Amino acid sequence: MTWTRTNITPQDLSAGPVVFKAPPRQLALFLSEGTLFAVDNRCPHEGYPLAEGHVTEGCILTCNWHNWKFRLDDGECIIGGDDVKTYAAEVRNGQVWVDLTDPSPEETAGKILRGLRDAFQDRDYGRICREITRLECNGLDSTDALRRAIDWSHDRFEYSTTHAYAASADWLREASLHAGDWERRLVCLAEAVDHMANDALRHPVYPFSESAEPFSEAALLGAIEVQDSVMAEGLLLGAMTSGLTWPELEPILTRAALAHYNSFGHALIFVYKTGQLIEDLGEEMTRPLALNLTRHLCFATREDLLPEFRNYGRSLEVLRNPGTSDDLPEGSDRLQGASLSRLFTWIVSQFQYHSPAIIHSVLLEVNGWNLLTYDTDMMNAHQIPVSKNSSWLDVTHGVTFSNAVRILCSRYPELWAPGLLQMACFAGRNSGLLDRNVAPDEWEVEDETAFIATVREKLLDHGFRDPIFSAHLIKTFRAVEEELATSGPEGRRVLLAGLNRFLQSPLKEKHARRLAHQAIDLIRRDFE
Ligand code: FES
Repeated sequence: MTWTRTNITPQDLSAGPVVFKAPPRQLALFLSEGTLFAVDNRCPHEGYPLAEGHVTEGCILTCNWHNWKFRLDDGECIIGGDDVKTYAAEVRNGQVWVDLTDPSPEETAGKILRGLRDAFQDRDYGRICREITRLECNGLDSTDALRRAIDWSHDRFEYSTTHAYAASADWLREASLHAGDWERRLVCLAEAVDHMANDALRHPVYPFSESAEPFSEAALLGAIEVQDSVMAEGLLLGAMTSGLTWPELEPILTRAALAHYNSFGHALIFVYKTGQLIEDLGEEMTRPLALNLTRHLCFATREDLLPEFRNYGRSLEVLRNPGTSDDLPEGSDRLQGASLSRLFTWIVSQFQYHSPAIIHSVLLEVNGWNLLTYDTDMMNAHQIPVSKNSSWLDVTHGVTFSNAVRILCSRYPELWAPGLLQMACFAGRNSGLLDRNVAPDEWEVEDETAFIATVREKLLDHGFRDPIFSAHLIKTFRAVEEELATSGPEGRRVLLAGLNRFLQSPLKEKHARRLAHQAIDLIRRDFE
């Protein structure tokens, strides 16, 4: 116990609250209806002095700035969002003494994490920042905020993982670059927690299977193939029960992700980012993250079944059996703006002559070119059919998917064929969204180092409330940065210019007019 004399008397307090300073602490002392109270003088909301507040009903303290109310005896916040710290106080020999003993680390951590959970459930960004900072200032592991956020959210995504986990992996890697700079690091951690809070907000629990099934790779891939999520979750549990860890699970889930053109490539991006999160947060996060990913794979839409991508399966067959390629014409390496069928043809013609990495670099460049020349009029058009809907975020996926393909197919080379063809799916699909009048030179980045530094700063103050937008900023940036390391001069030029244009262009957060137009178009068909 660290009892400290304050040199303040009850008589002093009878005239009103008095501030007692014991640096770095600052306490507000109150005498109300004969009872002595000591609380932190800094309001947990925005730090205004609680000694300037007023007391009613004997022990209810109101902060006059924004009307938060606290119980003086235990600090509980009655109106507002954060408890205030209280201290034991007593009168000895006519003077007020206060107990400045710190609670145990376990008590401190428990209290902070309870506060973080409240903030998470309310998606209270300010309090999320404060609680993570409390972890840091108390010498606790601030990345625990992400571990707990995953615990609190993983069973609240009805159709499983969202961009929240993928973006969290990127934010966490970004945070690691800011060691020693708490403000920048905090933004990265808070962005990750906030995105998870947003996507889980007001969702009930969607429980995972708890019945571990005898695992085999074929059984798991089969359950995913027939979209039996309960069986797939059980098989994954069985795999983990029998000792499989992420390094053994990753190739299986990569195969499942590339078995189809799943969810416009999100499935593969999520596999890559799940691995990063487990690597950075620890093996203990495998269960919630891998269960989520498995459920996602079961619910993933299968774009290769759409008419637009019907040649995907045929082309994949040809790549796997090169002797059947005679009937397919030679392609060209001038593929900017090429259609999907031309891209498929080109890949098939090149696959037996060039390494997958070289073909990847060409396709990455095409996807980078699409990012550079996206027609922003498409984003703003509203009198269009659903099939013409597009946004900036759509074209960024070509690059982030290409990044995931390079990383995962380099690890599991037997998967290059579907990976490359699916890159072509992106490139071909987006080829109809390009503006031939964009002048690439206008977006060229001359000083790459300065540009990257500027983007890093912009990321930390992006200004978007909806985290899906900041998620696309961070994931596109980090994918480009990773791909720069293996790209040639032309590839680097295109990727940097594309990122530059993307970041300098306005993003549209809502398509009110388009949605109204398309709703009318659909509903009226039954009445006209
Ligand atoms: S600073 Fe106290 S309620 Fe806002």
